[in-house]
Amino acid sequence: MNALLKVDGLRAGYGQAQVLFGIDFSVGEGEVVTLLGRNGMGRSTAIKCLFGLLEVTNGSIEFAGERIGGLPSYQIAKRGLGLVPEGRQIFPNLTIEENLVATARARSNHALKPWTLDRVYGFFPRLRERRANLGSQLSGGEQQMLAIGRALLTNPRLMVLDEATEGLAPLIRAEIWHALGELKAEGLSLIVIDKNLRPLLDLADRHFVIEKGQVVWSGDSSALRADPRVVHEYLGV
Ligand SMILES: Nc1ncnc2c1ncn2[C@@H]1O[C@H](COP(=O)(O)OP(=O)(O)OP(=O)(O)O)[C@@H](O)[C@H]1O
Ligand SMILES: [Mg+2]
Repeated sequence: MNALLKVDGLRAGYGQAQVLFGIDFSVGEGEVVTLLGRNGMGRSTAIKCLFGLLEVTNGSIEFAGERIGGLPSYQIAKRGLGLVPEGRQIFPNLTIEENLVATARARSNHALKPWTLDRVYGFFPRLRERRANLGSQLSGGEQQMLAIGRALLTNPRLMVLDEATEGLAPLIRAEIWHALGELKAEGLSLIVIDKNLRPLLDLADRHFVIEKGQVVWSGDSSALRADPRVVHEYLGV
């Protein structure tokens, strides 16, 4: 399979503190991949590098056959990478609808079905009902749907979700997992970072376990299910 995203030897950090010590992973077209690991192991740091939010010290990031490491964030987004960031980061003083259209972008050079405002409202009907409400007036679950809807409206080819179910009630979490399953079914490639292993095992094709800024294990869901040692040693559950 040709990789849509290929990360090789990624190194990065904050000032003098190196956090990533040569991370390698890849995502195929239509594939769902996870980055697993305990708190503070460097998953969000790797994501910041993908989106040009943190300088890459060394290594290469290739997306759709093109090197994107070092490009400014807007150029990376334009090439089809969509981010649902840690902490959601919606605009509190904009309405749902304003949040959605603020960063919307027409579909570029890929075959996925285009996302429009109407389609996002169909996907998350709650957002339509509350379209005139300010970001600050939303529940955690609504904010999360908004963050996902906003990323979908950039018409990504690969969407990255960093802790998308964090702090949500179980029923809302289930809704988010269901939504991600639907996105996978229509061929969207995903990188999902989450603390809940069980839904990740059901959803994802492959997993990369990160420990102290390096990938220490990778494999598919059946391999991970069959290896409780990995789960215990690196994920602490
Ligand atoms: N802005 C920052 N400045 C300095 N150090 C940071 C910064 N952000 C993260 N770090 C440090 O980098 C390391 C990796 O953090 P990162 O956010 O990538 O972890 P993570 O794997 O996403 O875990 P989690 O989200 O569960 O905390 C941690 O030691 C963290 O303290
Ligand atoms: Mg994180």
